Amino acid sequence: MAPVVSFLTSALAGASVVTALNSIAVKEQELVDSSTGERFVIVGVDYQPGGSQAYHDHNTQDPLSNGTVCLRDAALMQQLGVNTIRSYNVDPTLNHDECASIFNDVGIYMIIDVNSPLGGQSINQADPSSSYDSDYLSHIFSVVESFKSYPNTLGFFSGNEVINSVATAQGNPKYIRAVQRDLKNYIKNHSKRTIPVGYSAADVRLNGNNILQDTWNYLQCDNGDNGLSRSDFFGLNSYSWCGSESSFQIAGYDVLVDMFDQSSIPVFFSEYGCNKPAPRVFDEVPTIYGPQMTVLSGGLVYEWTEETDMYGLIQNNDNGTCTLLPDYMALQGQLAKINTTLLMTANNTATNLQAPKCAQSLITSSKFDANFTLPDPPPGAEALISSGVSNAPTGSIVSVTQTVVQVAVYATNGAELKGLKITPVQAANTPGNTGGVSSAAAASTSKGMAPRMMDKAFTGGAVAAVVFGAAFAL
Ligand SMILES: *[C@@H]1O[C@H](CO)[C@@H](O)[C@H](O)[C@H]1NC(C)=O
Ligand SMILES: *[C@@H]1O[C@H](CO)[C@@H](O)[C@H](O)[C@H]1NC(C)=O
Ligand SMILES: *[C@@H]1O[C@H](CO)[C@@H](O)[C@H](O)[C@H]1NC(C)=O
Ligand SMILES: *[C@@H]1O[C@H](CO)[C@@H](O)[C@H](O)[C@H]1NC(C)=O
Ligand SMILES: *[C@@H]1O[C@H](CO)[C@@H](O)[C@H](O)[C@H]1NC(C)=O
Ligand SMILES: *[C@@H]1O[C@H](CO)[C@@H](O)[C@H](O)[C@H]1NC(C)=O
Repeated sequence: MAPVVSFLTSALAGASVVTALNSIAVKEQELVDSSTGERFVIVGVDYQPGGSQAYHDHNTQDPLSNGTVCLRDAALMQQLGVNTIRSYNVDPTLNHDECASIFNDVGIYMIIDVNSPLGGQSINQADPSSSYDSDYLSHIFSVVESFKSYPNTLGFFSGNEVINSVATAQGNPKYIRAVQRDLKNYIKNHSKRTIPVGYSAADVRLNGNNILQDTWNYLQCDNGDNGLSRSDFFGLNSYSWCGSESSFQIAGYDVLVDMFDQSSIPVFFSEYGCNKPAPRVFDEVPTIYGPQMTVLSGGLVYEWTEETDMYGLIQNNDNGTCTLLPDYMALQGQLAKINTTLLMTANNTATNLQAPKCAQSLITSSKFDANFTLPDPPPGAEALISSGVSNAPTGSIVSVTQTVVQVAVYATNGAELKGLKITPVQAANTPGNTGGVSSAAAASTSKGMAPRMMDKAFTGGAVAAVVFGAAFAL
């Protein structure tokens, strides 16, 4: 029998059928399922095991390259109720087929940042023109090539917090739009479907300068190029709701709802989850997904794994196993309360929202650089965009045959979770549909819990390793 026939035979005989999620599209202020037209609201987690420090030259792994780890995490995320992950630092030379397919199978979409912390692989906010060159574009286009063929690629982030202070609101805005223009041109020329491109913003509102609002308006406005350089969606990294004492008003969510009420593009939290006090209780979740905030399209909790800055839902152990943190259990409890009917049908967000015309009057702060004339593409860009990057990586959905998690997962009390596996589905994962991690196995107690470091440690430094919950007496 010829090899090709035996392959077909086994594929037809086998139980594993490759099914693809419907891709997500942008419709004015909402994300929608491109096939059913139903609203899609992000119930997400930021996924960067190892943190940005894990990304080096000569990577052998990135967050989406190890199927054993992705299978474990996809099983846990399916039970948690997550429908989207965001991965910040991916290496386009690695193979992402297994991970993308596993997440596809459990109804989880991926938002991919095109940049990385390596030199030449992001826009330098201190001197954007120096970093905007064809080598940089070649890197970000390769990331597009690597992920464009997965149906569950929801979108790409063109930048993350390029503007993160009042000072960086000068010079940078036009480069963010220029990069979006180049990415969208590249996608138009080389992808079979439109893949949305957006930006992830820092919440900068200081000394009367509403840089956040100006960034959103600058990126959503119509500069006459048929939408080519504008953002398709706007992510906001927001840490204003801290603990059970906060509220819609105290956290300033009411101000955000007013600000984004007439947004012509979807707005969501690309990071949320203040970690004070710890462990987190995630009391903001019912509000984010409740009737007061339907103007937003959900959000992504920062972040899946415990790193030096202490925002994890799970702790990765050195031997490939992981231990759930109390935050995982708390988030699961909150997500289970979401009214999924409201999520899919909520449409009291405004309709027929046209992008405002780009104009100086849209910009409120004199410190925000309202130059709507974009830099021309750098030398070599046209050739890359018309012919494509050379040796372009490829990606495709593969059949997932291993559904049982191969590494041990421990509950918060140290007990091993038995029988953990993924359950293939054909639609977006929804919270509360699987019953979650059994509370008997995962019953948590704060008795004997190691003290948790509470300070954000983005600047690195001497944050001691802290061991969590694994040592409890049963
Ligand atoms: C893996 O490491 C964790 C944490 O150190 C430990 O509790 C667990 O017993 C180890 N598991 C295996 C299978 O070695
Ligand atoms: C993937 O991760 C598992 C669990 O940590 C590890 O044992 C394995 O070596 C990794 N695979 C590769 C190819 O690095
Ligand atoms: C869920 O949302 C729908 C649509 O708005 C509403 O009709 C229904 O009453 C809500 N269910 C609950 C339990 O609040
Ligand atoms: C949502 O708004 C759109 C555009 O105005 C409209 O066509 C659609 O019927 C609405 N959907 C629901 C469920 O109300
Ligand atoms: C606006 O940006 C363009 C493109 O970089 C530049 O050529 C032009 O000089 C800038 N205009 C002002 C007023 O700075
Ligand atoms: C591809 O990109 C080039 C350069 O931007 C452009 O001139 C051309 O029209 C594009 N072709 C298609 C088919 O979109």
